[in-house]
Amino acid sequence: MTTPSGRKWKVAVLGATGAVGQTFIRLLANHPWFELTEVAASERSSGKRYADCARWLEGAMPSMVGELQVKTCSPSDVNADIVFSALDSSVAGEIEKSFAEAGKFVLSNAKNFRMDTDVPLVIPEVNADHLALLDAQRSARGWKGAIITNANCAATVAAVALAPLHERFVLDKLFLTTMQAVSGAGYPGVASLDILGNVIPYIADEEPKLEREMLKLLGRYEDGEVISAAFKVSAHTNRVAVEHGHTICMTIGFDDKPTPEAAIEAMRTWEGLASTAGLPTRPKHPLVVTDAPDRPQPKRDVYAGDGMTVTVGRVRRDSVLDLRMVALGHNTVRGAAGGSVLNAELLAANGAFDSA
Ligand SMILES: NC(=O)c1ccc[n+]([C@@H]2O[C@H](COP(=O)([O-])OP(=O)(O)OC[C@H]3O[C@@H](n4cnc5c(N)ncnc54)[C@H](OP(=O)(O)O)[C@@H]3O)[C@@H](O)[C@H]2O)c1
Repeated sequence: MTTPSGRKWKVAVLGATGAVGQTFIRLLANHPWFELTEVAASERSSGKRYADCARWLEGAMPSMVGELQVKTCSPSDVNADIVFSALDSSVAGEIEKSFAEAGKFVLSNAKNFRMDTDVPLVIPEVNADHLALLDAQRSARGWKGAIITNANCAATVAAVALAPLHERFVLDKLFLTTMQAVSGAGYPGVASLDILGNVIPYIADEEPKLEREMLKLLGRYEDGEVISAAFKVSAHTNRVAVEHGHTICMTIGFDDKPTPEAAIEAMRTWEGLASTAGLPTRPKHPLVVTDAPDRPQPKRDVYAGDGMTVTVGRVRRDSVLDLRMVALGHNTVRGAAGGSVLNAELLAANGAFDSA
């Protein structure tokens, strides 16, 4: 597929040595629109060959990255105008701001800016129009560059599953219980003796993030701002001994009480916003509904759509609220690096990088 402007944009990854950083590298290695030319990480890694300091987690390391010298996460050290950030949130705030001030587009996975009113929190198929917040961001902050965020990994999976129901029906209440993979905690993440054969019913700051981000994701852009969705949300989040894939059990109450069949039909016919069709990382089906009684399962469904498709199953009546269902999505792909790359493709297709 040719790029919108007939050229490839040079890009960098900040936090390139971590779990999400490595997923970025895999997704960018042969990307039709972007060329990964720089990687950056902490002072522990900078100055070293990437292959010597990154503990590569999955498959073969793309050959183009192993020889790159890891840079510092400073805008004066990184040349690319488009940077993907997989930085730990303890440092992402200051670093991402310094890149935006220096005129760079920052596609961020960190929580720091997600809820700022002038920062788009984007899942292209769900809310591509929220990118319009960038005008307000530029005028409020005086940045030459910009920050565009993608959401918490569990919030992303839930929002993709709920988007067609939110479009078609009136959601009132939502209870969610997550079973989140260990790769969601980064590398080295949770100690093996804490997680093997175990369930940890606490993930720091995860429940409030999931609750508030999902409402912003499903909010509507109007007159220069995003008005968050108004339904009530209550989340339980758990870490489980699964490598990749967050599974979410949802119980949903509606004002207009759709039947399971109507909900399934809404989800099966939903294709996501048409403006995202043809973007290289966009899956053919952002959401699929399975009829199998024992699916979705991380082991069998996490790589649907190359990790970009959310799979929903077990859609059924609920005797307390109205409906119950289970959703599953890949946390480091759809919920992190893949979502960010898709955001960048959307910006590129809209001409945002034409001067980069
Ligand atoms: N894992 C997921 O499923 C997921 C999903 C959605 C969002 N996120 C978010 O994505 C971000 C990355 O998560 P992760 O799971 O990849 O974490 P991770 O495996 O712990 O990686 C963190 C990265 O940040 C770098 N870093 C740490 N301190 C730094 C500093 N002082 N200066 C510059 N770089 C520094 C590390 O570099 P060194 O190797 O040099 O220390 C590493 O590359 C986090 O904000 C996380 O909340 C993660």
